[in-house]
Amino acid sequence: MRGKDGKVGAWNHAGQPTQEFRIPDSVVEVTRQRGRIGEGIDHPAVFPLGLPKFFIEAYTEAGEIVFEPFAGSGTTLLAGQLTGRPVRAIELAPEYVDVALRRWLQHHPGTVPVLEGSGRTFAEVAAERLGETAEVTA
Ligand SMILES: C[S@@+](CC[C@H](N)C(=O)[O-])C[C@H]1O[C@@H](n2cnc3c(N)ncnc32)[C@H](O)[C@@H]1O
Repeated sequence: MRGKDGKVGAWNHAGQPTQEFRIPDSVVEVTRQRGRIGEGIDHPAVFPLGLPKFFIEAYTEAGEIVFEPFAGSGTTLLAGQLTGRPVRAIELAPEYVDVALRRWLQHHPGTVPVLEGSGRTFAEVAAERLGETAEVTA
């Protein structure tokens, strides 16, 4: 593959029969997110699940860790689960962390999110924080 200057150098994988990584097309076709993302949850800027799924598969191998610095409603967490990549995610807004976890639970009801360090479950922490005794499930 040639660089913009038309030359083939080390940066352009000179001497290698194939490039080491996949280069996705410049147009990504994915199904749009329509309607709400789940029962009783919402986020103003949800990405279609196919979008992180596409880029995760394009740039990582199964088992490699994916970092999501803007988790939002947790779309990348779901895409990581679908593609066999563990995801480490950060979200600034506590209410969106709740959204992401509730969404996760609606997709994976058998799982139990746990607060790292304390060992307490999401249901326990949410109930305490919200002053609720109600069980937090989906
Ligand atoms: C465009 S939304 C991400 C939407 C996400 N891709 C989804 O599908 O739900 C950006 C998110 O980044 C969060 N955010 C903004 N600044 C941040 C920061 N400095 N650190 C972590 N999260 C941040 C916002 O609260 C918001 O939920």
